[in-house]
Formats: sequence, structure tokens, C-alpha cells
Amino acid sequence: MKRITDSEQALVATTVNGRARTFSIEPRISLADALRYELGLTGTKVGCEHGVCGACTILLDGEPVRACLMLGVQAAGREIETIEGLAEGRALNPLQAAFHRHHALQCGFCTSGMLHSAIGLLRRNPSPSRAEAREAMAGNLCRCTGYETIIDAICDDAVAAYAKEQWHE
Ligand code: FES
Ligand code: FES
Repeated sequence: MKRITDSEQALVATTVNGRARTFSIEPRISLADALRYELGLTGTKVGCEHGVCGACTILLDGEPVRACLMLGVQAAGREIETIEGLAEGRALNPLQAAFHRHHALQCGFCTSGMLHSAIGLLRRNPSPSRAEAREAMAGNLCRCTGYETIIDAICDDAVAAYAKEQWHE
């Protein structure tokens, strides 16, 4: 197999929000930067860039991952979901709607990552307790809300009904 040097471009074929996407990047580029700068998906935010804040969390093959800790080339052949694919047409999806209803965001910088971590939890457990939600969201930092409204949104009855229908029936 040919080795790729740092200055060479690698061609990466992946699926993003249900669409086949191919992009060309230097192998040193993170997946977060590849999504933002190669595919224009700037809803994935970059905060700390070393795996601490959770702002860059996306779904990779259905599981939440820190896109700043992965290389773009590692996305080859994988299924990626970003915030741009979450709404249902022009309507917020039920989890987004619950964040809106409960005022679970202010500046919104953390929100994309919060939503993806919450989806990871709801896929495993459609109606988490507040303690379970707090634990699952412990790796996502928010400087605005004080977290309580985020937990309110994740534990909302409409979100539990949505999660059961989506992932547990
Ligand atoms: Fe990835 Fe902070 S930017 S965890
Ligand atoms: Fe501002 Fe969370 S809403 S950081």
C-alpha cells in the first residue's frame, strides 16, 4: 500500500447525513475541520480541540464521537451524522424542539454537540432518569445554561416518545 506523506492529499469517500460525499484532505486534518472546511458543515463547532468540551460531537456509525480527536481520513467508509441532518425538513426534530421549549441554549455553541451526545444516550435508553442524563452529558460543557434546562429537555416526555418510536420499536 502506498504511504501518504503529510503534504499529500488523501481522497476520502464517506456518507454524511445520508448522502455519499467525497473530499480530498491532507492526512493531518481533523474530522471536525474536514467537515467544516471541506464540506462546509459549520454546525459542528470546535472549542478546545483536544477532546474536553464536547462541542465537536457528531455521530459516527450511530455513536457519539469527538470529531476533533479523529482524523478526516478515518471517516472513510463510515456513516456520519451532523447537526445539518437532524431537522426534519424545515421542522426541528423533537429533541431540538424540546431544547427550544425548555430554553436549553443561549449562545448555541455547545448545542450541536449536546444534541448528538443526547441522541447517543436516547438510542440506548429512551427515557433516562435525570441522574442518567446528567452522567451521559457530563462530557459536554456549556458556559451559558447551567445545565438544568438541558436535562429538562432530554427528559421531556415528547423526547421519550420520539426515542421509543425511532430506536426501540
Ligand atoms: Fe472537540 Fe472540544 S472541540 S472536544
Ligand atoms: Fe452557550 Fe451552551 S448555550 S455554551
